[in-house]
Amino acid sequence: MHDQSGFGNEFASEAIAGVLPARGNSPQRVGRGLYAEQFSGSPFTVPRPMQRRSWLYRIRPSVLHEPFAPRAMRLLRGSPFDEVPTPPNQLRWDPLTIPDEPTDFIDGLVTIAGNGDSFANAGVGIHLYAANRSMEGRFFYDADGELLLVPQQGALTLGTELGIIEVKPGEIAVIPRGTKFRVALNDGDARGYVCENFGQPFRLPDLGPIGSNGLANPRDFLTPVAAFEDVDGDFELVAKFGAALWSAKIDHSPLDVVAWHGNYAPYKYDLAQFNVINTVSFDHPDPSIFTVLTSPSEIAGTANCDFVIFPPRWMVAENTFRPPYFHRNVMNEFMGLIYGVYDAKAEGFAPGGGSLHNCMSGHGPDAQTFETASTAKLEPRYLGDTLAFMFETRFILRPTKFALETPLLQRDYWRCWNGLQKHFTNE
Ligand SMILES: [Fe+2]
Repeated sequence: MHDQSGFGNEFASEAIAGVLPARGNSPQRVGRGLYAEQFSGSPFTVPRPMQRRSWLYRIRPSVLHEPFAPRAMRLLRGSPFDEVPTPPNQLRWDPLTIPDEPTDFIDGLVTIAGNGDSFANAGVGIHLYAANRSMEGRFFYDADGELLLVPQQGALTLGTELGIIEVKPGEIAVIPRGTKFRVALNDGDARGYVCENFGQPFRLPDLGPIGSNGLANPRDFLTPVAAFEDVDGDFELVAKFGAALWSAKIDHSPLDVVAWHGNYAPYKYDLAQFNVINTVSFDHPDPSIFTVLTSPSEIAGTANCDFVIFPPRWMVAENTFRPPYFHRNVMNEFMGLIYGVYDAKAEGFAPGGGSLHNCMSGHGPDAQTFETASTAKLEPRYLGDTLAFMFETRFILRPTKFALETPLLQRDYWRCWNGLQKHFTNE
C-alpha cells in the first residue's frame, strides 16, 4: 500500500515492471499490449487542488461488456427517497441480523435513509449491509456516488481496479465513484454502514486555528498498489446508475488494470490514527472537532456530508456537563456505533444499530445519562471502549419505507427522554 491517499497526491504503481509509459499518458502503443484509459473523478477544468484523475493501463478497456438491463433493487433505494412521508421524529434502529440465505455485499445492501438527488450530484444515501458470502463472478461500480464503507463486523477484502484493500472494523475505506470492485468476506459474516456520497468527493477538512497537525493526518491514509486479474468467464457487472441498479454480462474480470498512476484511487484509514482534539479546560466543543472527512458543498462550512467520529479519548473538562449536550441543529445527523458504548446513551444504541435526528428535532442524553453526568465527580476519565460515528448532512434525511416499517425500528425510542424531570424552582 502507498501511504497518503489521493488528497492531491500523485501515485504511480505497476504490477509488472516497466509497463507505465516513460512519458505522456496515452502513447501510441502501451507496453505488453495494454490499453490506456483515463478515469476521471472531477470535471476536466476544476482548479488543480480539486483535480481527481488516474490513468489506467489495462488488459481490456472498460467499454467491453454487453448492454445493461434493470436489476432488482431488493432493499436498496435511490434518490429522491420519497417512498413515504418524512417524519420529524427521533428514530433509532436495532442492528440488521445477518441473513440466513446466501447474501453477498450487493444483495445485502439495505437503505435506511437518503437525501438530495443523485442525478444532480447532491446529497447522500445511507445504507447498511449484512452479508454472509463473498461476491463471486460479480463486480460492482457506483456511478451515482463514492462509497464510504464503515465495517462494524467482519473484515472485508476489496478487490478494486486499482488494487486490493483489506479493511476491518475500526477502519474505513473509500471507493471513488465509478471504481469497479468486488467484496470478499474474510470472517464469514459481515455487517456495516455505507455512505453513498453523491456530492463532491470526501477530503480532509481544513484545520483553521488547529494548525498544520491534528485530526486525521494525510500520511495515515493508505492507497493500494496495482494488482490485476487476467481471467475470462461468464460474469456479471452490476452498476448503480441514476438511482437504480443495472446488470450487464461481461466475459472477463474488469479488475484487469496492470499499472496506473494518478490521484483518483480508493483508500483506507484506521480510525485509531485520529488525533483527537478536545477541551482541556471547561465546556463541550461542537462535534465538528471530530471530523475525519468532509464532502463540501458550494456553501462554505455547509457540508454535503461530514464523516465524524466519537473515538476513545480523555475527558477532563471541569464544571461541565461532559456528555453530548441537548441540542437542535439545522444539519441532519445519522449515527452508527462500531463498538462499545456511546456516552450520550445508557442503553438501546447497539453496535451495528443507527439513529437519526433530523433538522431541528431535539435530542441529547437520555434521562439516565443526564442524571449520572449531572452528579458525577469530574475527575479526569479515559473514555475507552467506544467508537461511534456520524454522517452529518445539510439536507433532511428521508428514511425509506423499510426503515419506518421494519421491526428493527425502536418504536419506544422517544421514551428514553421520558424520565427527564422538571427540576425548576422559582424561589
Ligand atoms: Fe446531535
